[in-house]
Amino acid sequence: MAAIGKDIATAKGLLESGELVGIPTETVYGLAGNAFDPDAVAKIFAVKDRPSFDPLIIHTASLHQVSDFTTHIPDSLFLLAKKYWPGPLTLLLERKPNISDLVTSGLDTVAVRVPQHPLTLSLLASLDFPLAAPSANPFGYISPTQASHVNAQLGDKIPYILDGGDCKVGLESTIVGMENGQVTVYRLGGLDVDAIESVVGRVVVKTHSSSNPKSPGMLKSHYAPKKPFVLGNLKELVNSCISEKKTFAVLSFKKHFAEIPETLQLDLSPTGDLDEAAKNLFAAMRALDSMDVSVILAELLPEEGLGRAINDRLRRAAADNIQGLHHSS
Ligand code: TXA
Ligand code: MG
Repeated sequence: MAAIGKDIATAKGLLESGELVGIPTETVYGLAGNAFDPDAVAKIFAVKDRPSFDPLIIHTASLHQVSDFTTHIPDSLFLLAKKYWPGPLTLLLERKPNISDLVTSGLDTVAVRVPQHPLTLSLLASLDFPLAAPSANPFGYISPTQASHVNAQLGDKIPYILDGGDCKVGLESTIVGMENGQVTVYRLGGLDVDAIESVVGRVVVKTHSSSNPKSPGMLKSHYAPKKPFVLGNLKELVNSCISEKKTFAVLSFKKHFAEIPETLQLDLSPTGDLDEAAKNLFAAMRALDSMDVSVILAELLPEEGLGRAINDRLRRAAADNIQGLHHSS
């Protein structure tokens, strides 16, 4: 297992010698390596078992440093960065040649963000290179929001995890770029679309295609628990599992089922707070996945605020098990 601690000097030393380190951010934990070191980047793909067509996000300490490896920032994206960095926003920018093809999967853009976590910001400020960091989960599985999640799945493959506690946002960053002169969202995430539109006006949201060349990593089956994860009308799903005598657990929002044992139902936010639901989502999915049941049941949340990004993750987790997909959208 990896050592877990809060020692920035240890993390810095390992990263400088080409090793990988688990790092906390406000969104999810990252699996970080020196973005300018092709061997470290190759290790990231190997440890995650990630296909090489799925490019990585580069993390830096400030907007100022982005020009080290990008050619320019379009005005609208600059305004977003000014307003929301450090924060759960990733920008797609034209790269300079010092970013390798391995990082970008051969694309001419590079994904960049300044994460909002004091430990990771201090670490980044102490390094003379940026960090490439995908979410610190095996490819296709649920993203980690606690150091223990990283240790449980990648702990035997990395030396150190910087422990920054529970992630405050709990969903990956929102990915934004320019397409045909328009600000375009490629992945819904921890910064909601309204927040983006309040700065740059109407944006295009293009997150659906699994073959979207701009965001090759947005595969349909993603964030997936190992157990069957079924999305639909929760009440109906519960009733049919009961009548078929199937064992099941429930991921709910603002709902409680008297007919189900307390331990088999996790409510993302009893008060109906979407930010709280986002923060709890991945830990709840993990907990449900480890329960002794044959299926996990869930339903979509309201399509507003972070509810949109949460629903995106639920749909991807359910992939082929969706019933009544559009009932609340
Ligand atoms: O919140 C986050 O963004 C977290 C934390 C650790 O920062 N990172 C994260 O990385 O979610 P990852 O690798 O799990 O997801 C990155 C996504 C992938 O879907 C990838 O396809 C997309 O970003 N991406 C990266 N570079 C891209 C590029 N040049 N063009 C389009 N999509 C890109
Ligand atoms: Mg990921």
